[in-house]
Amino acid sequence: MSEIDIDELRSRFGRRLRIGFVGGGRDSVIGETHLAAMRVDGFFELYAGVFSIDPTVSAATARAEFIDANRVYGSFNEMAEKEAQREDGIEVVLIATPPHIHFEAAKAFLTRGIDVICEKPIAVNREQAVQLDDLARQHGRLFCLTHCYTGYPMVREARAMVRSGQLGKIRILEAELAAGDPGVSFEPENPADRHWRFRENIMGKGAILGEVASHAHHLLHYIYGEEISAVSAEMSTFVPRRAVYDNAYLTTRYAGGVRGRIWGSYIAAGNDHGLCFRIYGELGGLKWHQEDPEILWFKPIGGKAQRIARGYQDLSFWASRGSRFRPGHPEGYALAFANLYADFGCAMMARQLGLSHEQFYDALPNTRDGIVTMSLIEAAVASNDNDGHWTSIPKTSSASNT
Ligand SMILES: NC(=O)c1ccc[n+]([C@@H]2O[C@H](COP(=O)([O-])OP(=O)(O)OC[C@H]3O[C@@H](n4cnc5c(N)ncnc54)[C@H](O)[C@@H]3O)[C@@H](O)[C@H]2O)c1
Repeated sequence: MSEIDIDELRSRFGRRLRIGFVGGGRDSVIGETHLAAMRVDGFFELYAGVFSIDPTVSAATARAEFIDANRVYGSFNEMAEKEAQREDGIEVVLIATPPHIHFEAAKAFLTRGIDVICEKPIAVNREQAVQLDDLARQHGRLFCLTHCYTGYPMVREARAMVRSGQLGKIRILEAELAAGDPGVSFEPENPADRHWRFRENIMGKGAILGEVASHAHHLLHYIYGEEISAVSAEMSTFVPRRAVYDNAYLTTRYAGGVRGRIWGSYIAAGNDHGLCFRIYGELGGLKWHQEDPEILWFKPIGGKAQRIARGYQDLSFWASRGSRFRPGHPEGYALAFANLYADFGCAMMARQLGLSHEQFYDALPNTRDGIVTMSLIEAAVASNDNDGHWTSIPKTSSASNT
């Protein structure tokens, strides 16, 4: 790969990119992670936001971040309109609201010439994901979908190993995100106290697919690159008073006889985050667990297990590029998340300077990944409604918006 020198890119650009937030306020789970990740490499400066649905929380978040009160807005539409009119307006927005707001918010910014970083799941259905893909292309915008686990260097190493054929022909792909802490394993007595994740009106009864199974699915998709062609799903609800499914088993088929499984759960009691994958080819297998993220295990068939650790010089391009510290100095979740911001920041700067930005997109999930996941989700819901009947999945034909 002919790489643009990143220091030179940054010095030619000469300043940080101006970002705004929709959601991600002090009342949110994920906002703080974005604030930390965005600042690690210094590509972005926060200038504006509608940080919360609650104006008091939004204002408090803005004060804590030293944001000019004139740039704290009452709605994302107002923010998109006013920021687009400013000479020093934001160039990119983070959307970190609950998923049913992603589509309208992303549309408001894309159509006004502002790039988008959007939390997963991209939207509530495939149709909306396709529309966002079209809008990004029509308006010439960049879009990053924050499937943050793709930022781990050892996930990127697994991708390089699978894509370069080190495992031989791939046969089996399995991943799970099976959480089980008290926050997701119990439901409050009063339905009014339910979190939006457990309300049917937000993402339907199969919301668990977008909330947790999507990460497991996306890891496999990111590493292997091929789309699932058919799915058989069984979803269940274990927790009393719960209105949505809290466990999902998906058995999957890929072209060429490749098979897989995805497990998404809120009721794996005792688990913390519970994200991992196992991939097997003709020549060996790979295993990775997010709670021990610096290590990727490779076991060649008939040979000794190899413990591949982050930070060594013989790792692949993307795994090395995503590492900051020497081996033995664990990096972890925030720095993996920061890799998405760093790559997206490079892509934005390169494009604004008229340089090729595609090379920075290579490792980033975008609208196309959103369509692939929403296609799986819709097929899995249909399969579950039909007693696990095998349901085919349309191929994502549209090109990525690079
Ligand atoms: N990438 C990950 O690992 C990860 C982890 C957690 C959550 N998420 C995703 O991030 C998104 C947010 O999840 P969360 O757990 O932080 O939710 P949350 O409910 O904790 O926070 C949502 C935030 O959005 C704000 N909000 C709601 N409606 C708004 C509106 N119309 N305008 C502006 N702000 C609004 C809320 O006030 C709050 O600040 C979801 O899509 C979720 O799936 C991703």
